[in-house]
Formats: sequence, C-alpha cells, structure tokens
Amino acid sequence: MCGIFGCIEESSKAKKILIKCLNGLKKLEYRGYDSAGIASIENGRILQYKTTGKVHSLDKNIINTKDLSLAIGHTRWATHGAISEKNAHPHTDTSKSLSLVHNGIIENYKELQYELKQNGIHCISDTDSEVLTQLIAYYFKGNMIKALQTALDKIEGSFAIALIHKDFPDTIFASSRDAPLVIGKSKNTIQLSSDVHAFSGKTMKATFLADNEIASITHKEITVYNEEGKKKEKEDSVLHIDPKQHSKGPYPHFMLKEIFEQKINFSKSVDTFLTNDNLHHEIRPILETNTDQILIIACGSSYHAGLIVSSMIEELLSIPTQVRIASELRYQSPALTKNTLAIAISQSGETCDTLGAVKNIKNKKLPVFAICNVKGSTLTRIADHTLYIDAGPEISVCSTKAFSAQLTLLQLLVLHLTKDNLKKNIILSNLTSVKHALDYLLSHTAKIEKLAKKYSLYEKFFFIGRDVMYPTAMEASLKLKEITYLMSIAYPAGEMKHGPIALIDSKLVTIALCGNEKTLGKITSNLIEIKSRNGPILAFCPKGSKEIEEIADDTFFLPNNLDDFFSPLIYSIALQLFAYFVAIEKKTDIDQPRNLAKSVTVE
Ligand code: F6R
Repeated sequence: MCGIFGCIEESSKAKKILIKCLNGLKKLEYRGYDSAGIASIENGRILQYKTTGKVHSLDKNIINTKDLSLAIGHTRWATHGAISEKNAHPHTDTSKSLSLVHNGIIENYKELQYELKQNGIHCISDTDSEVLTQLIAYYFKGNMIKALQTALDKIEGSFAIALIHKDFPDTIFASSRDAPLVIGKSKNTIQLSSDVHAFSGKTMKATFLADNEIASITHKEITVYNEEGKKKEKEDSVLHIDPKQHSKGPYPHFMLKEIFEQKINFSKSVDTFLTNDNLHHEIRPILETNTDQILIIACGSSYHAGLIVSSMIEELLSIPTQVRIASELRYQSPALTKNTLAIAISQSGETCDTLGAVKNIKNKKLPVFAICNVKGSTLTRIADHTLYIDAGPEISVCSTKAFSAQLTLLQLLVLHLTKDNLKKNIILSNLTSVKHALDYLLSHTAKIEKLAKKYSLYEKFFFIGRDVMYPTAMEASLKLKEITYLMSIAYPAGEMKHGPIALIDSKLVTIALCGNEKTLGKITSNLIEIKSRNGPILAFCPKGSKEIEEIADDTFFLPNNLDDFFSPLIYSIALQLFAYFVAIEKKTDIDQPRNLAKSVTVE
C-alpha cells in the first residue's frame, strides 16, 4: 500500500514544487489515505509537513513556502503503528539530516531496531519505515549509494523508497524491491511515482526500477546502480498519459463513472477480441500445449471473476479448474500436474498475496499467464504472458470496471478456445443481447436508486445465488460491505437450509440473484422458504419471472434473453449500482472507503 511521489526541477526555474508534489500524491490516494506528508530541503535544512487524514489536509501548510527545487511525498495506508502524525511519512533520522518515504514492509525491523538501540539510536515512531531511515543515516559516511547498499542489504521484506539528504540538496535517491517505483522524465521535470498515472506530463520517458536497483536523480539525469553499486544502463519506455482518465467528468464519484464505462469497455473488448488475430496466436499455443489443469490465483473481486469463469472453462474446455485465494495458496502445497497452467488475475498487478503465490508457482517451473490492467506492473513482469484487460485506470477503490473487464476477457478467451462450435456460435450470436441488456440496465438506474433508498434502512444482508450466480452474489456482497460498511454475507441459495436459514427474520434482507436459467426453479423454492420465515426479499431476476415477483417484496427485472454465462456481468453491474446508491444514503466516502486501499501491497 501507500503512494510515493517525488519531483525535481532545475533550481533556477523550479516553481511551486511542493504543490506539484501534492498534486501527484492526490492521484495516488487510492493506495492509502490514512495520513500524508511531504519533505523538501530549504537552506540546507530538511523541511517536513505531515498530517493525519487525506493529502488535501496539507494544502494549508504549503501556501507560503518559497520556490524549492525538489520534494518527496507520501500517502499512507497504516500497517505498523496507529494512524498518527508521528507515524506518518516522511520519517527523519535523529540528526534530522535525511527524510525518507517508504512503501512496503520491513519484516526484520524489530531486530534492526534493537541493533540501532544498542548503538544509541532510538526510534520515536512505531513504524518499520523509521527503522529503515535511521539505518540508512547510521551507515551514511558521505556516500549515499554506499549507505543505501549496506542498509538495504540488511533489510528483509519489500520496499519502495525515496529519500533526500541535506548534504545533497539537488538529488532524490530511490530504490525498490518487490514494490513498484517508476521515474518519469519530461522536458522540464523529473518525477518519481508508485504509479505512472500520477505523472503530470502527457508524454514521459519512464524508467522502471527493478528489484534492489538504486537511483540517484537530479533535474538533469537519472543514474541507476545495481545492488553491487555498479552503474547500469536502463532502457526507457515512452508513456502517454490521458489526463481525462483522472477526472470524474460529469459524475459525482469515480465509482459511478467507472460503472457507466463498463458499457463501452464491454463493446471494446468484444470488438478487439473478435478481430485481433495476433492476440489469438499468442494465446492458443499456451492453452493447447497439453494443459490438463488450470489454477486461477487472485484476491477479492479478481477472485470472484475467476470463480465465475471457472465453470465456463470446465464446461466449454473440459479442463479441470481450481480457483484459489492467493493469500491462502501462498502457504499451501497444491497438488499440481506438470501441465498445469496458472492464471493470475489482478487489476493492479501489485497485490502482494497474488505476487507471492505466483512466485511459488514459478518456482515449480509452471507457466503463469497474467490477466492485468496496469501496464508494466510487477505481475506482468514476472508472468510468462500477459493479457491486458484495457479497462483504463480504475480510481475508485471499489473495483467495478476492472472486475467486469477481467470477466469478459476470460469469457471471450474461453469462447475462442472451445471446440464446441455449436455452443460457441449460440453464445457469440447472443453477445448483442448483452450489449442491449447493458443499455437497458444503465437507463433504469432510477429504479435501483429507489430500491436502494428503501433497503438502506436495514442493517444485515444475505446475498444468494446458484451456479454462476453464487460467485456473482459474493461479488455483490463484497461491493455492499466495502462501500456502505453494512453487514452482508453471500451464500449459495441451496445451502441456506443447511444452517444459515436460522438467521432469517424480518430484519435480515435477502437479496436474491436469480439470473441463472438452469436453476431458476430451485432458487424460487429457496425464496419461498425464506418468505415463510418472514425474511424480506429483494430479487434481481429475468423479466417475466412471475412466481418470484409474487414471493419477493421487491423485484428488479433484467432482460430474459441472456446466456447463463453472461448473466453474471449484467447482474454484477446492477448490484454495483445498488451498493453505490445505498452508500449515497449512508453518506460514506464512496471512492475511498475507510480502512481500504486500492492495491494491497502488504500481506
Ligand atoms: C474490491 C476490490 C478488491 C480487489 C483485490 C484484488 O472492490 O477492489 O477486493 O479486487 O484487492 O486486487 P487486484 O485485482 O489489484 O489484485
């Protein structure tokens, strides 16, 4: 978690560098927003401002600062130590010579803290990051690259760091291991960021730091050293950044903007997939080389996308498929055949648990295929092949368009690879119905808003579904709890009678996702059982489901001509809207819900 941003300009021309740094940080807030801080060097002294809460709380501090030539900043998602100013970054050493921002976890920080203490150095915060700061200062004897090499060599864990030292007023030092850090260069500025989208330039040359590399950055040049301290030539890539993608446009929240973007993204994915031969040439050999087992690895919403698509893989490709939560899989020993193909799904490509599980799989010499949104992210660099979902930057912490784009891409991939041409052609010819269903849904949001108003008065929710509607219910339940803080659980509808039905009473709402034609009759019976126990029911079901309409307290009808495999897409979007409108009623911070961060780079 946490976002790092830095910028540096020629001192005679530099203007409002602190404001520029804060603007970069604001674009990284999705990575954490518990506290924020910024540092610079003024007249040979370290200057630092810190605050709890979001980056904008720093605005008032920097209005009167003079033009400085460099700045580093941080937006924090608390891991070690409470949310407080003391624990906010940047951290400084005892002599206040250097200032450091850190993203990641120093696993052996307790040991290092003890060693520092033995040498008379006491940390004042509760963070692992201050230990690293003090350690670097301890090893600094005039050569910062050497100090960094020695300190970082002692570190176990992950880090992306940026630091400044009062003796080097024109330099930002940076390094990373298992955490993203990219340096962008344009005509007048060099910037440093956890994510390319925070860069202010429209076109920038980017240098991605690899593990353990150390960079020394001045306004003129970027010098990169390997872990032995030898200079290293790095290739730049050219980045084109669209500033519009970072604005809400006419929408009150990024989440709503991103919900609406799904319609255009779906059409784009379908068109690209059906016409892009290169893509097919790349994928086909991977799946056709004796793959006898598929292992899908992911977390959160990406895991739900994997679950939904797994039944389609088994039905249309006849390949046994297991979907595993990355944080669990990391510490398990799955029985895998030597022809297992691992598919890692991640919007950010930086989720620590997913990366950890993928590394284990790579150690077993099995191929890993990534489905990712963020270009150049760590996952895409360690996977053997990557398919990008091209959903555009997802700013809202709560995933919507990335989830649906993952689902769509994987489903189209399965359709492309299936030998069941009859089924394939039926589904393909049905894709237009999916587009129409999206049109219908996005033009009927007022009804969902009304239902959300009514049900926002309740405090407990069950989301139920059968077959692919069960993982869809899991995703819907996650959306609701994430942005409204209401208690919700997802259950397979048929399992209710094995225990959970004991919870049903007039205060617990059941939200039924009835989009699976195959099991429509079955879920109808489950709803009757819930109704008989006075449980309020809101059903999302296909138009014409008369019986469900009679049983449920409220119904939201969706088109009834959807293929069972594609219903999860439409029903998920309907439930994203439901969660969104409940959150509006609850007045929560929709784009940045409490306790969360967009990419989870810690375990
Ligand atoms: C939920 C959500 C999270 C992410 C999860 C995995 O709305 O956003 O559950 O899906 O943290 O993140 P990625 O896909 O970046 O690996």
